[in-house]
Amino acid sequence: MRVGLLGYGKAGKAVASVLAADPRYQLRWVLRRQSQVNEHVEDQPLIPVRSMNGLNLSDWLDEHPVDAIVDFSQASSVDWYASEVMARQIMLVTAISNYTEESLEVLQSMGGKTKVLCSPNITLGINFLMLAAKLLRKIAPFADVEVVEQHFREKPEVSGTAKKIAQSLSLTDDRVTSLRVGGIVGHHEVIFGFPHQTVRLTHDSIRREAFGTGAAYALEALNVCPTGFYSFDDLLLKSIRAELLES
Ligand SMILES: NC(=O)c1ccc[n+]([C@@H]2O[C@H](COP(=O)([O-])OP(=O)(O)OC[C@H]3O[C@@H](n4cnc5c(N)ncnc54)[C@H](OP(=O)(O)O)[C@@H]3O)[C@@H](O)[C@H]2O)c1
Repeated sequence: MRVGLLGYGKAGKAVASVLAADPRYQLRWVLRRQSQVNEHVEDQPLIPVRSMNGLNLSDWLDEHPVDAIVDFSQASSVDWYASEVMARQIMLVTAISNYTEESLEVLQSMGGKTKVLCSPNITLGINFLMLAAKLLRKIAPFADVEVVEQHFREKPEVSGTAKKIAQSLSLTDDRVTSLRVGGIVGHHEVIFGFPHQTVRLTHDSIRREAFGTGAAYALEALNVCPTGFYSFDDLLLKSIRAELLES
């Protein structure tokens, strides 16, 4: 599958390195806001990094066709590419953390023409943790549930992922406990307190490359879906259902 990537910042660089190393994909190009002359992906001289500024996307896609686009730039970029992506039925994996209502509406309408995955959190592990926690919450509604998040000392705000986990379990924000300790990259834990046992679901982030692993999973899972607008949960549930039926 030929893939183009939007965004070459902290996340985009990690995603580019994962996609470039994955034999299922051919990362063809990367677009960012401002590029250097003859810039290319690190250690990949054949994968160009170009600027979106002043670029005619239609001409670019004629010369550099792709089957899928992965977006790690910013919410407003969708206005720039929506019509071309729909017209060419290019598959889209968009991983912006904070969509505006307007950008979400555009993405949802794109799902009428092509395959769109929209995931404000694209790590496979966190999405799996949330799904497992939701299931356990349903099975054992009597258990006490608390969310604990730990991050590096300088992180000022409560983790958005922890809040999202709490919301998905119908817990109020005061059920989230935050610890700021040294250089922890990201730790999320959901604790289920039963009368005679305790269940802990834990996720630790190690490197940003986890975003790339999530994007790679999403590309493969989305590829076999019909045209439409999907969340990461939709894709995961489809995989789990298929796996359960097979076994
Ligand atoms: N879903 C997830 O799990 C997840 C995880 C991490 C990050 N993200 C999202 O990914 C995006 C990037 O995060 P980051 O940490 O890599 O941020 P960053 O380091 O600030 O990088 C942003 C990248 O997007 C490019 N960009 C910004 N505005 C653009 C525009 N209007 N048109 C084209 N390119 C534009 C920038 O270009 P220049 O480099 O030329 O400035 C840069 O390459 C953010 O939206 C963030 O929310 C999502």
